[in-house]
Amino acid sequence: MHAEHREQWGSRAGFLMAAIGSAVGLGNIWRFPYVAYQNGGGAFLIPYLVALLTAGIPLLIMEYTLGHKYRATPPTAFLRLSRPAQAIGWWQVMICFVIAAYYAVIIAWSIMYTGFSFDKAWGDDPETFLFSDFLQASETPTVDLSFVGNILIPLLAVWIITLGVLAIGVRGGIERANKIFIPLLVVLFGVLVIRAITLPGATDGLNAFFEPDWSAITDGSVWVAAYGQIFFSLSIGFGIMITYSSYLRRRSDLSGSAMVAGFANSSFELLAGIGVFATIGFMAAQAGVPVNELATSGIGLAFVAFPEIISNMPGGEIFGVLFFASLTIAGLTSLISIVQVLIGSVADRTGLRRVPAVLIVGGLTALVSILLFPTTGGVHLLDVVDHFINQYGIVVAALVAVIVVSWVLRQLKPLEQHANATSAIKLGPLWRITLGVITPIMLGWMMWDSLQAELAENYEGYSDSFLLGAGWGVALGALVLGVLLSLVPWKRGRQVGDEAAEEVQR
Ligand code: ALA
Repeated sequence: MHAEHREQWGSRAGFLMAAIGSAVGLGNIWRFPYVAYQNGGGAFLIPYLVALLTAGIPLLIMEYTLGHKYRATPPTAFLRLSRPAQAIGWWQVMICFVIAAYYAVIIAWSIMYTGFSFDKAWGDDPETFLFSDFLQASETPTVDLSFVGNILIPLLAVWIITLGVLAIGVRGGIERANKIFIPLLVVLFGVLVIRAITLPGATDGLNAFFEPDWSAITDGSVWVAAYGQIFFSLSIGFGIMITYSSYLRRRSDLSGSAMVAGFANSSFELLAGIGVFATIGFMAAQAGVPVNELATSGIGLAFVAFPEIISNMPGGEIFGVLFFASLTIAGLTSLISIVQVLIGSVADRTGLRRVPAVLIVGGLTALVSILLFPTTGGVHLLDVVDHFINQYGIVVAALVAVIVVSWVLRQLKPLEQHANATSAIKLGPLWRITLGVITPIMLGWMMWDSLQAELAENYEGYSDSFLLGAGWGVALGALVLGVLLSLVPWKRGRQVGDEAAEEVQR
């Protein structure tokens, strides 16, 4: 370990920019507004804030501390904690592999839609345009190799940019890209939100968004949604923050950085909610319909409702470019962080240098992404994989990691001491209780609740066989492959792990 040269961030600001770049992603702009709306509107903000404070920030601090203390990506960091725990790290790596493969595709759509905004290429019927003309989606889910050129080309560009940035390195590539992209994103999105709230009808949209439906607070599934949103949005539970903090300098403020990143991400998320709902309010006023008739979910909101709104708005072209360019940039900085987990983890365990690791590991991920998703059946696959890997990948892996670290290995106290040695905000019993007790109870409940719903009704009405293969199969496959990878006798990793384990014991 001593002789090893580990890459480092150039400055704390550089690290924070990258951490915020990772957190702020499709989850903020595309996912948060409709999740909040579907789950009680203004009332959702209460479970959301509770989830942020009792699980999001404490877990973020745990991940920062793990990465910083063991100076390694998830498999090696967990191995240094305890040899069998290495499987958790590889499981997180496999989850990142799955997410990266489809996340890139949504960015590719956004790139195309940025271009479509100039001449409102979607015409009068954005829904038919999206599914029939653009995605050329098959009626039923299939996994085949009927490529859709419209998506394949921008997808190649997404992968070339992402792997190019990663090949340059942590400081020269990731940090520099975020220092350019994040301020740009703030400006683009800021202009968009200001334009949105000054549109006629914006207040109706904001009222619909913020008006609390208090009955929602007593509904378990609303709490589940709040926790799920916080995890995905903060990029926790799948190893990204362990990876990024492993490149921090020895003397780094861990808890303070977690607070800054956590609150910056949630502020951006709220801003996105305000921007999106003000815009929907405008559209509802134009069409003379209530806001709730227009607020649709996921893909529908970004790629159907927004184009419709853009078509009906004076200066809609510019608005469209701002929206889809923001989505593209936010997505790219998150994708970079997800793929870095894969590349860094393999490099840490094999000793492979950065560029070969980018070519082999990044190349393999890109290949799977390119073969499976820009196809006629790709959108169905993406929908199911996204749902299952989030619900039964990220959340379960986070639950297992928290239980293992706090109860099986009893590491909360040592981690607390490590963080306190260099951090401005000191951790104490509150941190240990929220992480060791409240978080596992809430996550356990979440799991139980969503499993019941899952078994009662097929997700989106897909067939059993498709859900078994693309949903359960992928989520379980990530776990099984993670365990198998932890059994591989990585030559270098064993040495490094042993040295580090001794060092930690000393
Ligand atoms: N945190 C990233 C997002 O919100 C993954 O999209």
